[in-house]
Amino acid sequence: MIRRMKGTYDITTDIGYYQAVEKQAHRVSKLYGFKEIRTPHFEARDLYHRSVGEDTDIVSKETYDFEDRGGRINTLRPEGTAGVVRAFIENKLYAEKEIPQKKYYLGSMFRYERPQKGRFREFRQFGAESFGAAHPSADAEIIAYAVTFLRALKLKDVKVHINALGDKDSKIAYQKALKDHFKDHIGDMCRDCQKRYKENAMRILDCKVDKDHHAIKSAPKTIDLLTDADKAHFESVKDYLEVMNIPFIIDHNLVRGLDYYTHTVFEIKVSEALLGSQNAICGGGRYNHLVESLEGPATPAVGFAFGLERLIMALKENNYPTDTPYAHIYMVIMGEKARLKAHDLMQKMRLGGLMADADYLQKNIKGQFKQSEHKNARFVAIIGDAEVDGGAVNLKDQKTGEETPVAFETLYAEVVERLTRPTHECQDCDHKGEKK
Ligand code: HAM
Repeated sequence: MIRRMKGTYDITTDIGYYQAVEKQAHRVSKLYGFKEIRTPHFEARDLYHRSVGEDTDIVSKETYDFEDRGGRINTLRPEGTAGVVRAFIENKLYAEKEIPQKKYYLGSMFRYERPQKGRFREFRQFGAESFGAAHPSADAEIIAYAVTFLRALKLKDVKVHINALGDKDSKIAYQKALKDHFKDHIGDMCRDCQKRYKENAMRILDCKVDKDHHAIKSAPKTIDLLTDADKAHFESVKDYLEVMNIPFIIDHNLVRGLDYYTHTVFEIKVSEALLGSQNAICGGGRYNHLVESLEGPATPAVGFAFGLERLIMALKENNYPTDTPYAHIYMVIMGEKARLKAHDLMQKMRLGGLMADADYLQKNIKGQFKQSEHKNARFVAIIGDAEVDGGAVNLKDQKTGEETPVAFETLYAEVVERLTRPTHECQDCDHKGEKK
């Protein structure tokens, strides 16, 4: 038997969680003025080298690269930001009248990581990117958007960690301070850190091997090397978060594992008790020079991405209710004449927006009633040859046990009428007038 590839999985029984999360992602994105964008699952390899960064773990160790039959080097997207930035430039979204351009996306990302709890090789993200606003209120808005999404999912006990990297001058000053700090310690740190020391000292801070090394723990803080303007930006982000009632923690060790960030960076975490060490369910920040560095016009930007697997693991622990699979009506059929009529009735009901289903395996009545239970059907309509001749079905309300004959012509209206009675609890129905 051919099995799924390591680090991947099939979504079967959990699909209700994904749909509930996606529904809230679409809904909350609209509230914040974000519109959906869909970009390819693979891009030119260079895109990630030039954006996420050569020295990051993602690019140096984790990308899925392949040469296609035309000799091009492709990379399966390890994250969404770079592709959205490329699309922003290529489609000239910067010339659109609506500013900022606010986009969100849902989809699979691919990283060749060591699989463990909460870490996969194919995982899904809900991400958002806002292009064109440099003001600190845009940093705060993106964090508020992420938190509102979690509130909609009723996820409790989340912590928003924020930090400031500053712009170019602050980052250069910080790199220098890190080099000075690590100079006497780098000799007893891992080989990767020694390489990082030469190429990008900030990457030492997210080393997984040396994460408990005293030199990492005592490293200088970004915040102490910010220019006055960058400090003011960060102070203002905090003011906006406070005014919107978004609690946050200042986390001096937070530098993020991707190179493109400037100014505000953030992560949203749930407790380690819930998810273990992979407890960051969301990461993001400002990236004011990425568009420019990919040959677009200078455009400030800020964004986030949630990992859906981690989020769903946390929702499960919180007993988040998913939409229950549901059918409005299940036809219990006896005989071939009745089967033909049942299909006529079902098609009409479906066209009218009802979820109708039936047996296709010629099961006996007991088997068909069992199926109606598995389908969680609110009504069962029993139809045999006698009912076809009499022009009516026997409609059984599975909730009340009430059973009444209903004429074919009025079946649709009768079911709709009963579904809209105040006692109905259907949560998964788009039928007009139906109580949600
Ligand atoms: P990231 O921190 O690399 O940021 O990923 C965002 C989230 O994706 C993480 O917080 C985590 O929940 C999830 N994630 C990452 N890797 C895995 C994995 N191997 N398995 C399961 N989940 C994973 C970014 O991707 C940036 N593009 C975020 C961003 C958008 N920054 C600005 N705009």
